[in-house]
Amino acid sequence: MENNYLAEVRRRCIAYGMQPTDVPSLRTTVSEEHLQRQKRLYADILEVTKGFGENTIQLLNGQMVSFVVTDDKGLVIDSFGDRIIREQLSQLNIKEGSLLIEREVGICATLITLEYKIPFQTVGTDHYHLVLHESACHSVPFSVPGNHGVREGTISLMTSIVDFSNYQLAMLVNMAESMGRELKLRKTNQRQLDLHHLMVDNLDTGILLADRSGIVVDFNHVALNIIPDYISVGQSSYQITELGPLFLQTIANGQRQRGIEVHFHAGGTHTVCLADIIPIFENGIIQGAYAQLRDITERYLLEQQIIVSEKLSAIGKLAAGLAHEIRNPLTSIMGFVQIIRERPLDPDTARYLGFVHEELVRVKNLVSDFVTMSKPSFPIVKPIEINLFLDSVLDFMEGQAALHDIRFIRDYHTGDQDILYADASQIKQVLINILQNAVEASQPKEAVTLKSTIQNKHLTITISDNGSGISPENLTKIQNPFFTTKENGTGLGLSVSYRIINNHNGEITVDSRLGAGTEFNIRLPLSGILKECPV
Ligand SMILES: Nc1ncnc2c1ncn2[C@@H]1O[C@H](COP(=O)(O)OP(=O)(O)OP(=O)(O)O)[C@@H](O)[C@H]1O
Ligand SMILES: [Mg+2]
Repeated sequence: MENNYLAEVRRRCIAYGMQPTDVPSLRTTVSEEHLQRQKRLYADILEVTKGFGENTIQLLNGQMVSFVVTDDKGLVIDSFGDRIIREQLSQLNIKEGSLLIEREVGICATLITLEYKIPFQTVGTDHYHLVLHESACHSVPFSVPGNHGVREGTISLMTSIVDFSNYQLAMLVNMAESMGRELKLRKTNQRQLDLHHLMVDNLDTGILLADRSGIVVDFNHVALNIIPDYISVGQSSYQITELGPLFLQTIANGQRQRGIEVHFHAGGTHTVCLADIIPIFENGIIQGAYAQLRDITERYLLEQQIIVSEKLSAIGKLAAGLAHEIRNPLTSIMGFVQIIRERPLDPDTARYLGFVHEELVRVKNLVSDFVTMSKPSFPIVKPIEINLFLDSVLDFMEGQAALHDIRFIRDYHTGDQDILYADASQIKQVLINILQNAVEASQPKEAVTLKSTIQNKHLTITISDNGSGISPENLTKIQNPFFTTKENGTGLGLSVSYRIINNHNGEITVDSRLGAGTEFNIRLPLSGILKECPV
């Protein structure tokens, strides 16, 4: 059978007018671009062939063999192996980028394999040309499915007649079969991996996987969006600010942690997640852990609003009763104290009555805060000369500031003619609340700045301090009535302020860094357009 193929090709060589004494040489080479395109198309085949081929070279221990891989057109796309054999091949111009053509090379196992799709060997005198009588060539076909259809070609093993053995072809056939199996397995694995990624990437939950040393192995884009820290495969999960301690704990003790509320803060956004950290075991030994993050920000904010409104309604009832019960007697007590203070008194009594009066003012303000929280009065809008107004507020607070050894910096970018339409006494209350907080958060000798700017028909009043700052977690709570970190605080100052500004159709924003300071921005429309119904 084999002889028939050889005889057929030999006949053709004679017909081409070839002389056995000629030295054959390939003349056609493809462009570098074409070669690289084929290399990319056959990349997985080339990789696996190289792996198996190099193993085979080692097994053949000392025999000089070299491998050549061609595509379905006989284009040499890869060659590796013994240097001397490859040099001999390149003398015939058989090298990467050359096209094997029968008219140029004569009898060649690779071309017969390509034509008849069978394993074939040409040994010594089988070749047409005398120069090839010292060499042997075994060739096997391959046919491997790829992304763009089936890729066909050949793998050839070239050697010298001295190192030739009949086992070599069997070995090559075996190698091609193993290569096919390996590629199939790779494809299945890849498909499973793609499926896994598709599933993980389409989940609404963030997934982050770490090995037993805590090194990040994989994560999906949801996790990437939730976690503000930079995360990449290969880094330690223990360094992730909010999740690190959880991973450490689960990997250390193998215990799953469920439903942990984790707060992520990044660039002004606050994301709340429920995190499960689940250990991964294999044969009872911990292999790593993964975090599952469910974004519950919306639900959390809704809950917070409900808490606030529940508190508000409770305050409402309480305040209504309190206002009646306390305000009236308080007014008369303050009146009587005032009458007594106007009489001639000994210095001690006058001083004590001064204290009594101060404390009564505090109680009265507290009651007013409650009343504002329960039923904020509708703002009475009047024109306010901004700079004069700000001066009057700061003058009023000067005593408080002096008590804490704090100085005010006035940084007005508003003009003397600029007018704001608003309820002066309510806005004054807001500024006093925020200035008071700033003064209380600052250290002696520090400054609190009040800045005013007008932009897009809005006035912005910025009050900044270099004080203690507010933690990201507390920042989400400062609007809540009764939230306070102070021993004697009521936690009403800011919640009242937010309400008043909201009723004025304005907004308050806060920027704060723990240990560095806080900046409150109060933005109000100059025109004083109010919300239809204050809340
Ligand atoms: N400038 C600031 N620097 C640091 N923390 C602040 C600042 N402003 C507000 N806070 C924090 O916000 C909390 C709530 O402030 P808020 O004014 O509502 O209540 P309070 O000051 O505690 O009590 P009060 O009702 O007497 O004003 C404070 O307890 C404090 O923790
Ligand atoms: Mg306060």
